[in-house]
Amino acid sequence: MATRKTQKRATAKAAMKKAAMKKTATKRTAGRKVVKLAAGGKAKRAAVRANGLPKPSTKAWGKAGKALDGVRILDFTHVQAGPTCTQLLAYMGADCIKVERPGVGDITRGQLRDVKGADSLYFTMLNGNKRSITIDSKHPKGKEILNRLIKHCDVLVENFGPGALDRMGLTWEHIHKTNPRMIVASVKGFGPGPYEDCKVYENVAQCAGGAASTTGFRDGPPLVTGAQIGDSGTGLHVAFGIVSALYQRVRTGRGQRVLCAMQDGVLNLARVKLRDQQRLAHGPLTEYSQHGEGIPFGEAVPRGGNDSGGGQPGWILKCKGWESDPNAYTYFITQAPVWGAICDIIGKPEWKTDPDYATPNARLPRLRHIFDTIEQWTMTKTKFEVMDICNAVDIPVGPILSMREIAEEPSLRKTGTVVEVDHPTRGKYLTVGNPIKMSDSITEVRRSPLLGEHTEEILGKELGYSKAEIAEIKASGAITAPEKGARAEAA
Ligand code: COA
Repeated sequence: MATRKTQKRATAKAAMKKAAMKKTATKRTAGRKVVKLAAGGKAKRAAVRANGLPKPSTKAWGKAGKALDGVRILDFTHVQAGPTCTQLLAYMGADCIKVERPGVGDITRGQLRDVKGADSLYFTMLNGNKRSITIDSKHPKGKEILNRLIKHCDVLVENFGPGALDRMGLTWEHIHKTNPRMIVASVKGFGPGPYEDCKVYENVAQCAGGAASTTGFRDGPPLVTGAQIGDSGTGLHVAFGIVSALYQRVRTGRGQRVLCAMQDGVLNLARVKLRDQQRLAHGPLTEYSQHGEGIPFGEAVPRGGNDSGGGQPGWILKCKGWESDPNAYTYFITQAPVWGAICDIIGKPEWKTDPDYATPNARLPRLRHIFDTIEQWTMTKTKFEVMDICNAVDIPVGPILSMREIAEEPSLRKTGTVVEVDHPTRGKYLTVGNPIKMSDSITEVRRSPLLGEHTEEILGKELGYSKAEIAEIKASGAITAPEKGARAEAA
């Protein structure tokens, strides 16, 4: 039984613990949630052990909010490279406020239009889950609103031509002084150097980043690829930079600049070709089919056609129906460990022991002949039959899927990779949902905003302007479309 003395001591101890718990340091996370860190005693040690994190949530998976809840993005992006980045952040839960020029908006709203008078798919598929505010960034009142937004947001993302943000008066120095916590992320065509002032679009980046010189067939010109590795690829890189900067800010309390040049982003994706460039100094690139064909290499990495680019040779082969269907093809990889299975399937069991075919090195000089022989078999099957037969014995193959097939693929709809959304002026359309699936941050894809759809909501609810002030701003011309003549000029 506890004595009066021990009871007293326990009460005192409990009181001290309570006081220590009360004396808490508050800490801002990347978002707006406040995590209380215990400042003393056992609780402090526990907090240190937990790396300053709150207790693991007991909410059901997917019910604990979204990964970037509370993060506010001042989205100054346009065309593709920037919008891809901010759409991904919005998919992850960030509140993305897209600033657009009054009456004009992101130029892509009107580009490649398929439905008269409605925002194009170019725009709608890159700007889902965002809000739109129109502001003339060069108007004095517009500048004032932007300054409020800078104070209000965590990240500014832009992909204007070089110097455009500075010309708006939004220099890094100004932004950092206005909101030292703000992260300023930029996409530019080139990094510092001889081309830093150049404007750049997708294919320019594919060429300047080294990808085009290595794409296509040896006897043809360089080729650009359909995947937008310059724009969407760079957007992805910048999104990673922003999330990293948000994480660092938790420790440092300050923002920083994040820059990804499209040339650098493309090169990062084409890094295996820079690998091959260095290997050239030590001899021919034996896995390229040109080696087997006895064609010598030049000084630079050649175009590899459909060669695999990895250690396992591969090629694109015709399948049943190729004469009329431009996508009746399969990619076929002659992965060494399943060589025996390949020989059996294509009816060449003797190749398993024939010294000319039995080992990867022996096969290298005769890859063309090997793939021609495999093709004789694939041409008797549809690309889906090839997929079923080969995958059953672990042979890696891939059907060439058309965009039509992708749009109709039920499994992609089921996972939310392809999503149908409804839009007030264009009706239903397909978009690509979040390709990154997270168990505790579930993406709900929403349609893109109409031009300026959220202007008043953001001015009033977020920035605290009164109704009278909003009316005054409207009258000033800072958020409304310019006169018709001026609009045509701006477009
Ligand atoms: N209010 C007023 N003016 C605005 C505005 C607003 N809300 N939003 C943009 N503007 C102005 C800018 O201030 C700038 O004017 P300025 O050059 O007179 O100072 C102009 O509109 C935009 O310029 P810019 O970004 O250079 O557009 P562009 O159509 O001439 O060039 C790109 C387009 C894509 C080539 C160029 O933006 C670029 O090189 N961006 C970086 C690389 C990139 O992202 N490329 C891929 C795009 S998918």
